[in-house]
Amino acid sequence: MGVGGCLALPWRCLVVLCLRLLFLVPAGVPVRSGDATFPKAMDNVTVRQGESATLRCTVDNRVTRVAWLNRSSILYAGNDKWCLDPRVVLLANTKTQYSIQIHDVDVYDEGPYTCSVQTDNHPKTSRVHLIVQVSPKIIDISSDISINEGGNVSLTCIATGRPDPTITWRHISPKAVGFISEDEYLEITGITREQSGEYECSASNDVSAPVVQRVKVTVNYPPYISDAKSTGVPVGQKGILLCEASAVPSAEFQWYKDDKRLAEGQKGLKVENKAFFSRLTFFNVSEQDYGNYTCVASNQLGNTNASMILYGPGAVHDGNSGAWRRSGSAWLLLLPLAHLARQF
Ligand SMILES: *[C@@H]1O[C@H](CO)[C@@H](O)[C@H](O)[C@H]1NC(C)=O
Ligand SMILES: *[C@@H]1O[C@H](CO)[C@@H](O)[C@H](O)[C@H]1NC(C)=O
Ligand SMILES: *[C@@H]1O[C@H](CO)[C@@H](O)[C@H](O)[C@H]1NC(C)=O
Ligand SMILES: *[C@@H]1O[C@H](CO)[C@@H](O)[C@H](O)[C@H]1NC(C)=O
Ligand SMILES: *[C@@H]1O[C@H](CO)[C@@H](O)[C@H](O)[C@H]1NC(C)=O
Ligand SMILES: *[C@@H]1O[C@H](CO)[C@@H](O)[C@H](O)[C@H]1NC(C)=O
Repeated sequence: MGVGGCLALPWRCLVVLCLRLLFLVPAGVPVRSGDATFPKAMDNVTVRQGESATLRCTVDNRVTRVAWLNRSSILYAGNDKWCLDPRVVLLANTKTQYSIQIHDVDVYDEGPYTCSVQTDNHPKTSRVHLIVQVSPKIIDISSDISINEGGNVSLTCIATGRPDPTITWRHISPKAVGFISEDEYLEITGITREQSGEYECSASNDVSAPVVQRVKVTVNYPPYISDAKSTGVPVGQKGILLCEASAVPSAEFQWYKDDKRLAEGQKGLKVENKAFFSRLTFFNVSEQDYGNYTCVASNQLGNTNASMILYGPGAVHDGNSGAWRRSGSAWLLLLPLAHLARQF
């Protein structure tokens, strides 16, 4: 039989054997309730990993010998320590109480502990279970991912803890959607652009606050021109053409007049390219500037274009009327002529 942790001195081990034979009932014998008022061990003890556990046993003055055992190994017999583990200390050995303490409890300490006493030459035992709780911890989670629209995504979140943590996935941004999986795995088939954003894995048990970790899912899609605006401008005034597009990754813009690409830095012209739009500014519109302009938005997944017309006052009677959307003028209804080409 194992005397794990017991000092390996021969006489001591002999005493262990004697204790076992003469007085310590082997671990596993249940407490006989009813006749045995003592020893009275406490209920099961639940502690968190790293904390200290106190094992108490109530005795009376008829008790002549006492011991605490971990499974079948003696931890303490009376005031004598039998195990080498420095975390185990004697807390009290009085006429009424026999208690030990285990510091820095770890999961392998979980299990049955036995208080064994001898009263009037009768051995009695009482058992208490030490239950060790561990805070949840996420040990493995998917990395941030970039995927083309329509693809399949599989996210994984593995967590440990005692008791086993409950794992959930939520879609938290750009718009909180709430729980979408009550599982370590989250499968999204045919992902859409609306499903991009941050996903949060949460692992919780009752031991401590839930732990969370986030994964960013980027959904790539080809450009989509949402708006193309033109203003009617008389000669000598400032004219602006605006092309708005959404795309992931962000679109790159090019401008054409009829079939000719507009060169960067052309005199009297400014092109401002931002992530979601491109703006073409004519500082001083001339007759030659009037015409059909095409904005092309592209990224690695494709391209699309939209055409709009820069009109002079000849064609536009109230040519300075600003944004076409707000105006009811008939000429403005012709605009923009969007060609949403090659959409995937
Ligand atoms: C103590 O823990 C053991 C093992 O987990 C369990 O079988 C037993 O029912 C528990 N006793 C009490 C009183 O909670
Ligand atoms: C109790 O016994 C187990 C199994 O032998 C051992 O791993 C653990 O360290 C022991 N704990 C104490 C406090 O003695
Ligand atoms: C995505 O999953 C569906 C259903 O499991 C499957 O039919 C389809 O081929 C998958 N698509 C890709 C790109 O793997
Ligand atoms: C615009 O261009 C015309 C013709 O080149 C010029 O006469 C006029 O002064 C310019 N206006 C401004 C505000 O630069
Ligand atoms: C402007 O150009 C585009 C592409 O070249 C063409 O499809 C469209 O019909 C033109 N619009 C007008 C009003 O000419
Ligand atoms: C605009 O889209 C149409 C339709 O896909 C295409 O035929 C045309 O070449 C595109 N124009 C430019 C300037 O890319």
